[in-house]
Amino acid sequence: MNILAIESSCDETSAAVLVNGHILSNVIATQLIHEQFGGVVPELASRAHQQHILPVVERALADANLPKSELSAIAFTRGPGLLGSLLVGTSFAKALALGLNVPLIEVNHMQAHVLAHFIETRQPTFPFLCLTVSGGHTQIVRIDTPLDMTVMGQTLDDAVGEAFDKSAKLLGLPYPGGPLIDKYAKEGNPLAYKFPMSEMPNLDFSFSGIKTAIMYFLRDNMRVNPEFINEHLADICASIQHTLVQMLLAKLKRAARETGITEIAVAGGVSANSGLRTALTKLGEEQGWNIYIPQFEYCTDNAAMIAMAAKFKYEQGDFTPQTVSPLPRMSM
Ligand code: KG4
Ligand code: ZN
Repeated sequence: MNILAIESSCDETSAAVLVNGHILSNVIATQLIHEQFGGVVPELASRAHQQHILPVVERALADANLPKSELSAIAFTRGPGLLGSLLVGTSFAKALALGLNVPLIEVNHMQAHVLAHFIETRQPTFPFLCLTVSGGHTQIVRIDTPLDMTVMGQTLDDAVGEAFDKSAKLLGLPYPGGPLIDKYAKEGNPLAYKFPMSEMPNLDFSFSGIKTAIMYFLRDNMRVNPEFINEHLADICASIQHTLVQMLLAKLKRAARETGITEIAVAGGVSANSGLRTALTKLGEEQGWNIYIPQFEYCTDNAAMIAMAAKFKYEQGDFTPQTVSPLPRMSM
């Protein structure tokens, strides 16, 4: 089974090759053009995908030392994501599958984030829970088999990565600011300032309130002391990070309690956050959980996770017709 997978849902163009269940290459072209705009510009993203896709695919095949003629399937991200971006990967995958006369496999990007855990040698056992946290997603998912997943809770507004990035923007930090908040937070006191945590009744999240609270907090303090942010940056970052991490972990703890599941996985770019990692490790020890966090390369958007999800579909003969089109709002 030789699968070429393509990921183009947001601002990363990626291609990976999986041979007999093992990832042999995972090439990622990150689009830096969005930095100057403080967020992803959809039109620029799809244009950059068009420029990157051919060299990225060729690199992935070359790194894996696999000629195109030996591919047995082409996998691609069908959704969720930006329509223009998804269209580039979908069209490319369809054309390549048609040209090579091999099956096409559509993959749900959110399922793939979860299945990235199966790239690693240490893998969760079923059933497990996965907290998927990135710039575009915040979900708690229950996984019973590789392709049987249930969303138990998700954000009703901003994703947690977005909350990190928007808070960073309010502090005058460049995009994406999540990693910078993490960096400054290391020197600060997480209990210096208190921000309200939204109280959702179930396992859902809401992060738009905290962003507004931070905006007013900064405005009021800057009025009194125009140097407030500069003088207290570490404490502000530590307090914001602490609040966001506590919001995530409170729901995760509740999901574990409700299901009795102790295999706990984390996926998505925000899983790089050191505050989240430390707090999760501590909570896991307290609760007797086994914690799984993939390597960072497989946490952020990448095609290796698409290839792994496609492997499970290939084994079941779950192929996609050539008439397929992207689904920006694809559900699990
Ligand atoms: O998974 P990802 O690369 O892309 C998607 O959004 O799908 O996640 C990117 C997000 C951004 O919001 C970025 O600020 C956040 O992950 N992020 C972090 C850290 N590293 C990345 N947030 C907080 N702390 C970090 N160390
Ligand atoms: Zn993603």
